Amino acid sequence: MEITLTQGDITEQQVDAIVNAANSSLLGGGGVDGAIHRAGGPEILAECRALRAAHYGKGLPTGQAVATTAGRLPARWVIHTVGPVHPDPREGAELARRTELLASCYRESLRIATELGARSVALPAVSTGVYGWPMESAARIALAEVMEMGRTGGLDEAIDEARFVLFGADAYGVFERVLQELSHG
Ligand code: APR
Repeated sequence: MEITLTQGDITEQQVDAIVNAANSSLLGGGGVDGAIHRAGGPEILAECRALRAAHYGKGLPTGQAVATTAGRLPARWVIHTVGPVHPDPREGAELARRTELLASCYRESLRIATELGARSVALPAVSTGVYGWPMESAARIALAEVMEMGRTGGLDEAIDEARFVLFGADAYGVFERVLQELSHG
């Protein structure tokens, strides 16, 4: 599995599956979530509602992921995951717990991608918008987790490309620097 970085709009990616930074309600929102539902059309929301009614009455828990159709998008599937809100610095131990939840978003999303048979997956920087996670910290957590999964999780054979799609030059620059650092020690 190759980890690649692209600057752009995740809805335009020609991949098998795209990951959505959703919220527990699965009923849409702003940011990537809004863009995916706008571009993919109402079929995605219809499946989200059905999933919610059948399995997630209390909402999809933070750190978990679930797949739907991608509607009109070029991808075949959207994998919705719920990132953690970045904790207030006064919340102390919350940072470690939520860091693990953010890593879990990537782990669960890629696990579902392999179950579906997706060979290419586009991923956004989960939690770095509305949920306030600082980009550099988010990049370290995201890249370290996906690299680790590539090494130990059997992903090397299951997935050809994990493509991080960064919105804007600043986010791209941060991911590029952190990827270099993690790749070369
Ligand atoms: N393609 C790729 N990245 C995007 C796009 C897009 N079309 N639009 C926004 N982004 C970037 C943002 O710049 C940010 O870096 O995705 C990252 C995640 O931001 P959010 O979409 O705000 O996601 P998040 O911080 O996880 O907050 C989730 O936002 O809209 C709601 O329903 C969503 O309540 C949930 C919350």
